[in-house]
Amino acid sequence: MRVLILGGSGLIGQAFVRRLVERGDAVTVLSRNPERVRLPAGAQAAAWDGHTPQGWVHWLEEADALVNLAGENIGAGRWNAERKARIRQSRVDSGQALVRALEQAQKRPGLLLQASAVGYYGVKSQDVLTEEAPAGEDYLSSVCVDWEHSTQAAEALGVRRVLLRTGLVLTATGGALERLLLPFRLFIGGPLGSGQQWWPWISLRDQVEAMLFLLDHPQASGPFNLTAPQPVTMSDFGRTLARVLGRPYWLPVPAFALRLLLGEMSTLVLDGQRAVPARLLQLGYTFRQPDLSAALREALG
Ligand SMILES: NC(=O)c1ccc[n+]([C@@H]2O[C@H](COP(=O)([O-])OP(=O)(O)OC[C@H]3O[C@@H](n4cnc5c(N)ncnc54)[C@H](OP(=O)(O)O)[C@@H]3O)[C@@H](O)[C@H]2O)c1
Repeated sequence: MRVLILGGSGLIGQAFVRRLVERGDAVTVLSRNPERVRLPAGAQAAAWDGHTPQGWVHWLEEADALVNLAGENIGAGRWNAERKARIRQSRVDSGQALVRALEQAQKRPGLLLQASAVGYYGVKSQDVLTEEAPAGEDYLSSVCVDWEHSTQAAEALGVRRVLLRTGLVLTATGGALERLLLPFRLFIGGPLGSGQQWWPWISLRDQVEAMLFLLDHPQASGPFNLTAPQPVTMSDFGRTLARVLGRPYWLPVPAFALRLLLGEMSTLVLDGQRAVPARLLQLGYTFRQPDLSAALREALG
């Protein structure tokens, strides 16, 4: 299969590209800095500007499937007005560029995997959230709604669209887990806020394998929660991490301190979704890492 990936140079993209190449797929990654992208042998990088279809429609015409992971990193820095605008705009712009490229193409791929996030559901403290749950009303939900909407027109162009509502991807080299590691390693790990908020985690392995499963499954379309079958509260997550690291779990960080430190971005650790992968399980996906301890051990090497 020939796969074209927008934003495939990041944390999820790199791992996904590696697996595609391993199984013999031909992969092209569109990047704003193709000369700096490190890809496994067999994959190639090509240039795009991140917001127009200029110069890459021919790559799309050669592809069997498209994957759109592009967007400004959500956890990279405090959310001031400018960063919040960039987080939203980079996703809407890349999605709209993708639709314009599809409109211009003489031949179109049959499938689009479109990134999104469980943040779509907003802050709903205890509800179990399947893909049927409605969108929330906070900033991150509205970003996810706009993000998903940005490529909706692809469906009218005959492209089957799968929405990847991803949870917290576990890796020691990025995202929430990397930031938690330092206090835990320094023996000062403990609950963040109440500790009762849900953390809808997924191992990087399952994130990638579920994406491959959806890429290959002819009946997959619409939204899919990419989260482990057993979401846990932050307290359970922290206790398990402490056990895996052989460190204590004791020092709470109150919510007000996190709000002071991180501002509005503190919602990423203080709020969460009890999301479950109902549609993935219905379609027959078997999780490789359903157990949090095992997933953490693998993520930490
Ligand atoms: N990791 C998680 O836990 C998680 C959870 C839920 C959802 N997601 C979503 O899944 C997608 C992939 O996640 P990831 O962790 O691999 O993200 P990532 O490491 O931040 O990579 C995203 C890629 O998007 C491109 N990009 C960055 N800023 C951009 C901009 N302003 N305009 C266009 N492209 C831009 C970059 O590629 P170039 O610099 O090469 O152009 C980057 O490699 C993201 O959209 C993310 O929000 C991730």
